[in-house]
Amino acid sequence: MNRVPIRSGRSAMDLYAALRTGSPGEISVPGRREVRSEDGFPQTIIAVALTCRWTGRVTMMRNLFEVRELTKIYRKGGVRANDRICMDVRPGEILGILGPNGAGKSTLIKQMTAMIAPTSGTIRYLGRNVTAEPLEVVRRLSYCAQDPYAITSLTTRDALVYTGRLRGMSPSDARARACALIARLQLEEVAHTRVGGLSGGQVKLVGIAAALVGRVEALILDEPTNALDPAKRRLVWDVIVQRNREEGTTVILVTHNVLEAEGVVDRVAVIDYGRLLGLDSVGRLKDMVDERLRIEVTCTFGRRCVAERALKGMGFVEVLGENRLRLYVDRDRAGRVLDQLVANGEEMACEEYKVIPPSLEDAYFLLGGKERIGHAG
Ligand SMILES: Nc1ncnc2c1ncn2[C@@H]1O[C@H](COP(=O)(O)OP(=O)(O)OP(=O)(O)O)[C@@H](O)[C@H]1O
Ligand SMILES: [Mg+2]
Repeated sequence: MNRVPIRSGRSAMDLYAALRTGSPGEISVPGRREVRSEDGFPQTIIAVALTCRWTGRVTMMRNLFEVRELTKIYRKGGVRANDRICMDVRPGEILGILGPNGAGKSTLIKQMTAMIAPTSGTIRYLGRNVTAEPLEVVRRLSYCAQDPYAITSLTTRDALVYTGRLRGMSPSDARARACALIARLQLEEVAHTRVGGLSGGQVKLVGIAAALVGRVEALILDEPTNALDPAKRRLVWDVIVQRNREEGTTVILVTHNVLEAEGVVDRVAVIDYGRLLGLDSVGRLKDMVDERLRIEVTCTFGRRCVAERALKGMGFVEVLGENRLRLYVDRDRAGRVLDQLVANGEEMACEEYKVIPPSLEDAYFLLGGKERIGHAG
C-alpha cells in the first residue's frame, strides 16, 4: 500500500499528482469516502477530487490477490480442479466463493494460501508470487480449512494460545486473545477439552477462532458455517463482518449458504467445473437475473386451478406446489397486477401474495445452470 499525503487546500491537484504516481486500483481516504477504479486513471476520480476538499491521506490500494490463468490438475485421478481461473481480490472486501460440490473452490483457496502448488498459472499477493515466496505470504493470512484437523490434539484454549504465539504474539497477549475469542464464540464449556473430542460444529468453531487470532491482512475461510446450528451460524457471520468492518480485514469465504452469504459478501465469485463463471458485486449479479417481477401466490385451498386461470392472463405462471403459484410479470405491468390482486384476490382464489425481488441465489442458479447446481442450503 502506498500512502500519499494530501495537503489541505491544494487537494484536487495533490490527488491528481498522487494518482499519477500511484498504481491503478482502489483509492480511499480513510474516514471520508472511497472511490474505486479499475481502468487506470479514471475521470470519475478527478471529478470527485475537483468537487471535494481532500484533507486526509490518500491510500493507493492495489489488489490483494491477483490470480492469473490458474490451473490445477491433481495427479491422482487427473482431475482438472481449476481451469484457467483469473480473478482479483480487492483489499478490504468480503468476497464469497460459491459453487456446487466438487466445483474446485477449496482447490482454489488452497493454492491461494500456498497449501498446494498450481499446475500452471500464477497467484500474486500484493505483487509477491505466492508459489515462489509462500512463507512471506502465508504469515500475512489466516486460513480455516474445510476440515480444520491440525489442532485436534490440543485443548481449545491451548490451540488458540499456540496459534497466537505462532503469529508472533506475546504469551500474555495470546492468552488474552484466546480468552476473548472463547467468550465471543461461546466456547467456554469446551475451553479445556481436547479439540479431537469435540463435536463437528465445535471443531469448526475452534478452527474459526484460530483463524481470528492475531491481526492478519486477509482471513480465508472454507465453509465457515457448515456443521453449525442456526444460532452459531449467525454468530459466525456477525464475527466475520465485525472483523472486516472494524479492522478492514479482507475476507475470502467459500460457502454453500447463498442466502446467508447475500447479507454478508460484497462480491461473489461463482465457480463450477473448475472455471470461474462470474465475479461481480451482489447487486450487479442480481441485475443479471430475470427482469420480470415475481409474485408468489398462496391459493385458496383446493382452488389452485381457478387462481391459475385468473393469473395466466397477467404473465407467466409457474406451479410451485399444491396451493402455491409463482407469477412472472413485466415490471411495467406489475402495478396493475397488484391492483387486481388487492381488489379481486378472493374471486381469483389468491389468498396471499408476496413480491419476491431477485436474490443472489437466483444469480447463482443462472450462472451455474439449473441442471448442475442443486439447491444450495
Ligand atoms: N487431493 C486430491 N486429489 C485428487 N483429486 C482431488 C483432490 N482434492 C480434490 N480433488 C478433486 O478436485 C475437484 C475439486 O475439488 P474441491 O475440493 O476443490 O471442490 P469444492 O468446490 O471445494 O467442493 P465441496 O463444496 O464439496 O467442498 C473434485 O473433483 C475433487 O474430487
Ligand atoms: Mg471444498
